[in-house]
Amino acid sequence: MEIVILPSPAEVARKAADAIEQYVRRGPAVLGLATGSTPLGTYQELIERHRNSGLGFGQAQAFLLDEYVGLPAAHPQSYHSVIRDEFTDSVDFAAGAVHGLDGMAQDPQAEAAQYEERIAAAGGVDIQILGIGTDGHVGFNEPMSSLASRTRIKTLTRQTRKDNARFFDREQDVPDHVLTQGLGTIGQARHLLLLAMGAAKADAIAAAVEGPLAAICPASVLQLHPHVTVLVDEAAASKLTHQDYYRDTFSRKPAWQGL
Ligand code: F6R
Repeated sequence: MEIVILPSPAEVARKAADAIEQYVRRGPAVLGLATGSTPLGTYQELIERHRNSGLGFGQAQAFLLDEYVGLPAAHPQSYHSVIRDEFTDSVDFAAGAVHGLDGMAQDPQAEAAQYEERIAAAGGVDIQILGIGTDGHVGFNEPMSSLASRTRIKTLTRQTRKDNARFFDREQDVPDHVLTQGLGTIGQARHLLLLAMGAAKADAIAAAVEGPLAAICPASVLQLHPHVTVLVDEAAASKLTHQDYYRDTFSRKPAWQGL
């Protein structure tokens, strides 16, 4: 796990975009996309690079991490709509190249199983962008999720519903249930890019990076993955015990190694 502490959220977005650009320029890439506030700066950065420096997504595919159950794709807060509005409609993905879970599926278990098959058929995810919940969730794998879980339906915690209420008119409008890639599914992506900004994420980042591997902090499962990059601003890094070590190591990393 590489921990990179950056001076500002804008620097986190730039560095994340650098990592993603590397895959997109290399050939047909499969991107794993998160929604929520955290990756918005990264998506903005990628849109600018598409407009100003010819970064093309025409050969790429994308898979969303999760979706609210009960929201049709056209609902403004469905993750299908959010990713279109915030990123994919502003670049040049081919029609049908952006995949998401169907929150209205009659049979959520079958939908989850088919989603796993679609990811596998695409050759797996090359780079997966992740945010982290204040309770340590990644995707919508809430505390006590199986560290080996696959895509399935989950119930959001009250904390997550409260955190996400800002996207809805009222807290009670936040759906109770979601479909989410499992921790085992996420762990099959070849490179995991965990982003966090702001003091509200400091406890979760400290638990994920330096705490024990434990289902109470689902993001701690990233400790098992061979290629994880954690990009955090100063505030999100503020509760890490070994900040000096991370800064020192990154400052002396040879440029050719990349992220
Ligand atoms: C969203 C997702 C969630 C968010 C997390 C943080 O697709 O998978 O894990 O990344 O809830 O949300 P924000 O970024 O809004 O703080």
